[in-house]
Amino acid sequence: MFYYCAKPQFEQERFVMGYKHQNLRIPGPTPVPPTVLLASAKPMINHRGPEFSPLMERITLRLKHFYQTKGDVLVFPSAGTGGMEAAIVNVLSPGDKVLGVTIGVFGDRFITIAERFGAEVIKLSFPWGRAAHPDLIEQLLSDNRDIKAVLITHNETSTGVTNDLAAIGEVMKKFPDVLYVVDAISGMAALPFKHDEWGVDVAISGSQKAWMIPPGLSMVSVSEKAWKAHQAAKMPRFYWDFSAAKKSLEKWQNPYTPPVSLLYALDESLSIMEEEGLENIMLRHQRIGEATRAGIRGLGLELFADPAHYSNAVTAVKAPEGMDGKLINTMLRDEYNVVIGGGQKDLAGRIFRIGHLGFVSLADILGVLAALEMVLPRLGVSITPWSGVKAAEESYAQALTGGKV
Ligand SMILES: Cc1ncc(COP(=O)(O)O)c(C=O)c1O
Repeated sequence: MFYYCAKPQFEQERFVMGYKHQNLRIPGPTPVPPTVLLASAKPMINHRGPEFSPLMERITLRLKHFYQTKGDVLVFPSAGTGGMEAAIVNVLSPGDKVLGVTIGVFGDRFITIAERFGAEVIKLSFPWGRAAHPDLIEQLLSDNRDIKAVLITHNETSTGVTNDLAAIGEVMKKFPDVLYVVDAISGMAALPFKHDEWGVDVAISGSQKAWMIPPGLSMVSVSEKAWKAHQAAKMPRFYWDFSAAKKSLEKWQNPYTPPVSLLYALDESLSIMEEEGLENIMLRHQRIGEATRAGIRGLGLELFADPAHYSNAVTAVKAPEGMDGKLINTMLRDEYNVVIGGGQKDLAGRIFRIGHLGFVSLADILGVLAALEMVLPRLGVSITPWSGVKAAEESYAQALTGGKV
């Protein structure tokens, strides 16, 4: 009896200590490269001392590079949602009219935050699995000339859809007084994001996604136009105050005690990213996204998202007809140490999601597809053996010879 109780606990401890390998393929937190983990184990330093400011300077300048902005990028110790709240409370006042564009769970969240702080939100929803249509955004902006900001998600993690922010940016340019506020939490540093070229004013990202470090940091950009809006914005704020963050950043510091270990980690991950290069990072995500989708189709499964707007950071797959998709997640995890995401809210049990952002290579995805090939027949889904892995390999080989971003 004692052995029966103790064994699972022992297994759990082995996992916590990192001895048990897992293929973690949820869309964040993502796997962290070993040198990044090591960097985060460095001894503490005085966050007001001379060692800290070069670290913060290095990080900030390189974040700006990956954001593709000449404006500011502020770093807040928080989950991505904290960065979303920071964006809202720093550029809006209670009663301001905003257009909240939503294509899934995270678009809805952005709207909820704005409403909670007293904004008057016009909600523009698109069916889950689809992307936002630029023409409808333009129509609503034309009909409501007092809209102060558009809130939108770059990459909707809950459905595996990427919005066309370039096309929406063209619309935004026709309304130069309206702020373009983007939740880029699961897209930044994985998918093309041309902050200044697209006219984005505030973009939020999260450390646990393509930045390849543990959860706990959100990065928030602030354009010139956003700084002007900030001067007039009256929503209550203290911890999130952009002005306080900027004032400290002028000394390459943070207003409050920063999570030094996460900053060490980010410094190292940015070095890895710099070495790979922005274009190559995008290309890798594109090739792996395509290979994942090819593999899923090869298995005879159906993709959830609109093919015109597939995400190269996360793939949502419909559970086979009549099956609770959660069973697939459980079997992959318990039997093959492959951990993928499930469906959220209304999609629970109806889809499963494979994360392929950040520290990811083709082999990680082949591992997921191979595990699916072993699990699906036992759940009564007939597949052709090796059909997923084969299709993914072929897609990748094809992209290596003729791929483009
Ligand atoms: C697009 C998007 N927005 C917001 C969030 C929320 O981030 P966090 O869980 O770090 O608060 C997530 C997290 O998955 C996300 O993918």
